[in-house]
Amino acid sequence: MPVVALIGGQWGDEGKGGTVDLLAKRAHMVIRYSGGNNAGHTVINDLGSFKLHLVPCGIFRPAVVNIIGSGIVLDPIVLLDEMTMLEAAGVSLDNLYISDRAHLIVPYHLQQDQLQESLRGDSKIGTTGRGIGPAYSDKMERTGIRMGDLLHEETLLQRFARVIDHKNRTLRAYGGTDQSLHETYLQFLEYGRRLRDRIVPTHPLIQRALRQDERVLLEGAQGVLLDVDWGTYPYVTSSSPGAAGACQGAGIGPRDLDHVVGIFKAYTTRVGEGPFPTELTNALGLHLRERGVEYGATTGRPRRCGWFDAVAARYAVELNSIDQLIITKLDVLDDLAEVKICTGYRLHDTAISYLPSAVAVLSEVEPVYETVPGWQEPITDCREFAQLPQAARQYLDRIEELLGASIAVISVGPERDQIIERRPIF
Ligand code: IMP
Repeated sequence: MPVVALIGGQWGDEGKGGTVDLLAKRAHMVIRYSGGNNAGHTVINDLGSFKLHLVPCGIFRPAVVNIIGSGIVLDPIVLLDEMTMLEAAGVSLDNLYISDRAHLIVPYHLQQDQLQESLRGDSKIGTTGRGIGPAYSDKMERTGIRMGDLLHEETLLQRFARVIDHKNRTLRAYGGTDQSLHETYLQFLEYGRRLRDRIVPTHPLIQRALRQDERVLLEGAQGVLLDVDWGTYPYVTSSSPGAAGACQGAGIGPRDLDHVVGIFKAYTTRVGEGPFPTELTNALGLHLRERGVEYGATTGRPRRCGWFDAVAARYAVELNSIDQLIITKLDVLDDLAEVKICTGYRLHDTAISYLPSAVAVLSEVEPVYETVPGWQEPITDCREFAQLPQAARQYLDRIEELLGASIAVISVGPERDQIIERRPIF
């Protein structure tokens, strides 16, 4: 039975929440593998509308085992709030587990993130301010605190004692305020007490699922263009949201992945700073933002909007062995008389068919567009591919052709059932 990684193919916000919720109905296990509460995954179901930042979106299916994987950086305050909110809505958390290897976000990481951003001035990254970058930096620096440390009082105290002086020196240099070792330790001891039953070695759980041939879904966060290695560096997040990151962050060998499903919006959005070749800074861009309700699920920031960029999308497909596509929010394009797809870039007189690594170059390229007719009719009630207007089908066919992968699912609205399932993923 397949193990499927579902990864964002653009700059995040492609609609991973709703899609995981859909696929989870046939899954045995869902694993969030990277990022932290910089993500905001929206699920709309009978119980209401939920924005999940850390809990995997399989949580609404009681039979599914949900794992917060070792590649995650976890702010326990956010997780506990999210758990309280879910329980109040009647969602069972019996099947929620957290890897003992996942790293903690500590209040000093939030301070550091926000102070560093303000010091960057004009060259700010536009981070979510949730401490993600500093927590991953500490992980690499080997000064991070892990979920498993919460289970051992002495280890926890030793770990904090070892890092907090250094952290305070850094915070002071940035103009921040010191954090008390004692208070931080006691606070995290209490989080450990509340979470202890869920903090487990996830390796045996996941291996058992693989051996028993269960359907495992790896839930991505952010998107390939925000990848620290392959994204629009330095305007990226600090993790690896792609297929390799899925293996690493979940603890699954690459040969155990059966499919990599890339999720793309029918247009493109980006939140935060950084180059965006197909950005529409005109009335059309605003129209997409309003129709698509393009405001950050985590920070509420307005998202920048633009046409579908097939150069960047193909790059994401190639880098991650994406073999199936999910296209979301096709209905947002319903009103348009014509729709454009970027099929190449041009820098002065030179044609460029790949994603350049230098931000200076990517900021300067001119997109080369192909224009296709719009369908100008509502598609929100379509449930079969054949019910879509011909122009919408042509648009999707062209995307398949340009990306070299087939479209399995199309979303035509925010509700759970506003979906066209063209090919099974599980
Ligand atoms: P950070 O992950 O908070 O460090 O932010 C780094 C960059 O990634 C910023 O441009 C953020 O706006 C962007 N980013 C991080 N998480 C998401 C997400 O879930 N969706 C969209 N953009 C994100």
